[in-house]
Amino acid sequence: MRMRNKYRKPTTLRCNAGTRCSFPVLVWSLVGCLLMLHLYSLVRHKDGVGGEIQTHMDHHHHLFRELEEVEEEDIQIPPPKGKRSPRAAKRRPKRPTTLIDEFLDESSQLRHVFFPDEKTAIHPMKDAMNDSFYYYPGRIWLDTDGNPIQAHGGGILYDEKSRKYYWYGEFKDGPTYRAHKKAAARVDIIGVGCYSSKDLWTWKHEGIVLAAEETDETHDLHKSNVLERPKVIYNEKTGKYVMWMHVDDANYTKASVGVAVSDSPTGPFDYLYSKRPHGFDSRDMTIFKDDDGVAYLIYSSEDNSELHVGPLNPDYLDMPHVMRKILVGQHREAPAVFKYQGTYYMITSGCTGWAPNEALAHASESILGTWETMGNPCIGGNKVFRQTTFFAQSTFVLPLPELPGSFIFVADRWNPADLRDSRYVWLPLTVGGAADQPLDYNFGFPLWSRVSIYWHKRWRLPYMRTENK
Ligand code: DGJ
Repeated sequence: MRMRNKYRKPTTLRCNAGTRCSFPVLVWSLVGCLLMLHLYSLVRHKDGVGGEIQTHMDHHHHLFRELEEVEEEDIQIPPPKGKRSPRAAKRRPKRPTTLIDEFLDESSQLRHVFFPDEKTAIHPMKDAMNDSFYYYPGRIWLDTDGNPIQAHGGGILYDEKSRKYYWYGEFKDGPTYRAHKKAAARVDIIGVGCYSSKDLWTWKHEGIVLAAEETDETHDLHKSNVLERPKVIYNEKTGKYVMWMHVDDANYTKASVGVAVSDSPTGPFDYLYSKRPHGFDSRDMTIFKDDDGVAYLIYSSEDNSELHVGPLNPDYLDMPHVMRKILVGQHREAPAVFKYQGTYYMITSGCTGWAPNEALAHASESILGTWETMGNPCIGGNKVFRQTTFFAQSTFVLPLPELPGSFIFVADRWNPADLRDSRYVWLPLTVGGAADQPLDYNFGFPLWSRVSIYWHKRWRLPYMRTENK
């Protein structure tokens, strides 16, 4: 068993009247206890109650096994550039072709592998009995109106009142262009898209809940600016839904967070203001609401060289001047925070614009740190898949209360050539087993559990069956 407090003093075992127990007595007491436990479980098993528990546990393990299946990918790199499109060869004549080059090459023969066309789209409203509830990472995913879901860099809120999930993200259904030669590919701000669902698979478009400003060029959300990674949490004290997002200018020099608020999960959200949190530049960000209702802002800062974390005020609309610097010098972005059994976990990406890179998992006993880096959580696919987070970038981790210890890893497969056609990579994430790089030990036991994200070409939540539809 894992012990949490590494500074905990060892307790002295005493028998009655303060006499110290001898070692054999201790061992025999332990053996006795184990025998009693075994006997108890046998009796429980016999009278049926234990049987139920056992069946439940077997069922639970079975469900987990399904999520943790390791699936390999065998993608053949096409012949060298010379034998292919002269245009592509001219663009990058000397570089050897890697899978990442292929991914970024608009004219790659592997395009359909990374960005399958609409023929293979996930269409929840079609009568596809055999495909119901199946996620196909990278395929076009349609909403209930038959339109591709536009919720990039998103986050998911479970709303207790309506008992629905709400998925918020960047609505990027516009042309991709560069503001100038050296600028990153961009789409003008359209707004924050919102989708609702009861089953996490069938998503109804609820509209654009925070829209771009069309005319006022001085407005933070003027269409020529940047609105990324919106996240929404609910404030029990005020009854308001609060959205935090990255707001920026086209050159990413404003580096601020924006705040908006609404009475309803489906908006409309009123935009309040933007600021540099704690006076620092802030780009990729997320918010995390803890079990005690305290919410935190986590953002990349100091030119993405480190992350900062600090609590929000009780109304979630601003923050006090409390902040900790974490993962200093590690150059991480795209933070996605979650918690399991009292430990905080975070997945981050490296900083390579829209190009994919290796994810890392981090863990901490307190959200304010000290955070430790555990290594790459990706399992399966192939080496390049694992080195590129399955050609995607983290944005959110959603807990699955039905299966404690399991989560959905929500990521974006960006398509820099046509950002509106960026795809979603949803995969099972589980916490358990010893970490690869357990930097911290407690009495010889690694302090952290492994975070694992399993590649699947096709998967579904094991408790979702067709009859649930
Ligand atoms: C990487 C970030 O994670 C994205 O949200 C976006 O800001 C791109 N960079 C822009 O290049």
